[in-house]
Amino acid sequence: MEHTIGLAEKQRLIREAITAMQHSYSPYSHFCVGAALLAKNGTVYHGCNIENAAYTPTICAERTAFFKAVSEGVTEFAAICVVGGKDGILEQYAPPCGVCRQVMMEFCDPETFQIILAVDETDYTEYLLKEMLPLGFGPGNLEK
Ligand code: THU
Repeated sequence: MEHTIGLAEKQRLIREAITAMQHSYSPYSHFCVGAALLAKNGTVYHGCNIENAAYTPTICAERTAFFKAVSEGVTEFAAICVVGGKDGILEQYAPPCGVCRQVMMEFCDPETFQIILAVDETDYTEYLLKEMLPLGFGPGNLEK
């Protein structure tokens, strides 16, 4: 059965994404991002962006969360919440970059995976992965 998420779980994910953002290592952009990734087994993985003096090794909060989960053998996901803002001040939604959307496409069903963008527990919006990455290329495209 698909994992549908209720209001309380959404609010929990928003709180957890804000907590995850506290660890953002972003001394170059000062743009702090946090992500809370809900696995279908109920576990929530935190991620933050981690920048680098050489710039290109920088990793986004969303991919940090995915790679933490996958590296522990968890590959089925229901939803992710992303928050972000300059100096950690949350004033607008921080949508996932294209690379992170592609990583989502690898592990998530575009028809059901939910992406929650939030400012706080009452100010948020939701998308399905298929809306954020229309006509996405995924593992199914390599079959046959
Ligand atoms: N960033 C994320 O963490 N997630 C995104 O999807 C967009 C961008 C980070 C990367 C970099 O550390 C900072 O935000 C500015 O681009």
